[in-house]
Amino acid sequence: MASYDVIVIGSGPGGYVCAIRCAQLGLKTAVVEGRETLGGTCLNVGCIPSKALLHASHQLHEAEHNFAKMGLKGKAPSVDWTQMLSYKDDVIGQNTKGIEFLFKKNKIDWLKGWGSIPAAGQVQVGDEVHQAKSIVIATGSDVATLPGVDIDEETVVSSTGALTLKKIPNEMVVIGAGVIGLELGSVYARLGSNVSVIEFADTVTPGQDAEVQRTFKKLMEKQGLSMTLGAAVSGVEVKNKKAKVTYKLRSDDSEHTVSADTVLVATGRKPFVDGLGADALGLAMTKRGQIETDAHYATSVPGIYAIGDVIEGPMLAHKAEDEGMAVAEILAGQAGHVNYDVIPGVIYTHPEVASVGQTEEQLTEAGREYKVGKFSFMGNGRAKANFAGDGFVKILADKTTDRILGAHIIGPAAGDLIHEVCVAMEFGAAAEDLARTCHAHPTYSEAVREAALACGDGPIHS
Ligand code: NAI
Repeated sequence: MASYDVIVIGSGPGGYVCAIRCAQLGLKTAVVEGRETLGGTCLNVGCIPSKALLHASHQLHEAEHNFAKMGLKGKAPSVDWTQMLSYKDDVIGQNTKGIEFLFKKNKIDWLKGWGSIPAAGQVQVGDEVHQAKSIVIATGSDVATLPGVDIDEETVVSSTGALTLKKIPNEMVVIGAGVIGLELGSVYARLGSNVSVIEFADTVTPGQDAEVQRTFKKLMEKQGLSMTLGAAVSGVEVKNKKAKVTYKLRSDDSEHTVSADTVLVATGRKPFVDGLGADALGLAMTKRGQIETDAHYATSVPGIYAIGDVIEGPMLAHKAEDEGMAVAEILAGQAGHVNYDVIPGVIYTHPEVASVGQTEEQLTEAGREYKVGKFSFMGNGRAKANFAGDGFVKILADKTTDRILGAHIIGPAAGDLIHEVCVAMEFGAAAEDLARTCHAHPTYSEAVREAALACGDGPIHS
């Protein structure tokens, strides 16, 4: 048994970042993690491995579609799936070991096992009970299952199983055209699977800017993904490792089936609190099963805090990281804070989709007067040279003050470009501030500047 200032439960991006910041601020810190490796869902079975497969399959796409145009002749490479998976595992290993190194460097103890909280101030791991002045719950989220659909992680898989398939499927059905469905769906489409996406809503990626949704859908279809929107999946039947997916079209209630050798269930995630002892502790929960917290991440039980996917807000690694740092600062007596108005969202397909702030639909609904500055990547020299002219940058600014209210980008490196808008928004910038900032030529970032110019006297290259 040991005694700590802080015990963090869970070593995902929320938990490990929180622990490192706590240690840096002089708090004696331990992290409880039951997985074999640190890093949580994101590093082990989420963000990082999926990015490795997205990168590898994109390289194949480039070889198949663009190499010959640039005078790079010869047969396109074939896929060695075993090697691709081992590359992905190697990437995971490098990242999870990196966190282990950071824990040692910052003198953070890793309490190996699954943690529970028998009472405030106590964390039980196996037979041992450790004392902590403060406890931070960072237990993340788990796959949300669908009624009538049993995930066996072989034929019917979640994002976890989709990262370790034994072979590349011939026919893949993806349930849900959200972030996971389109990222992993596009991986397998590029690797040669026939991918059919079935989505309940009438658009892909519900909640996203509508113009981006329409362009995104078209570009995914161009990559070979077939889209059935407005369709609710009601069941999946598996026989001899073949799946039959049944769905109903919401427009006319007609029932349809489609068969596949792999079904990816990507219909969302739910907060993970199993085994913590939340009930016995009397932790207040929201209706959606999240742990309730105040603005300082304090739960209803004194001394217990919660951050990341297990509390309210978007289930994003970087949101959890920021909350981890904020709660560490609060525990160290500082004023930790997260600005929820400026949290970017990125979908790592090709092209990428990135957004921050308000959508046009949200501004219209709020009755806010705004202007739109838009610029197509077709007008960007660098994008044209790189066969990356699909997509656009859209900046939304207040009609009177010109203050930036949101930005939506679909195009090359959108996930990186969005951050100049995030920084601008943090400083309360006007679109003109971006427009008057010199941007190096030729870069993709010029498209952001041109969109900002489009909020004023107009862009140069369109
Ligand atoms: P999601 O919430 O993004 O998408 C789920 C989709 O499934 C929705 O479009 C929903 O309308 C649809 N759906 C629900 N029930 C259905 C049914 N019965 N039939 C057909 N469609 C149905 O959830 P997703 O993609 O599973 O991701 C889970 C979480 O992980 C999200 O919060 C996401 O933000 C996060 N994530 C973030 C990533 C990133 O930032 N790049 C990457 C992967 C996941």
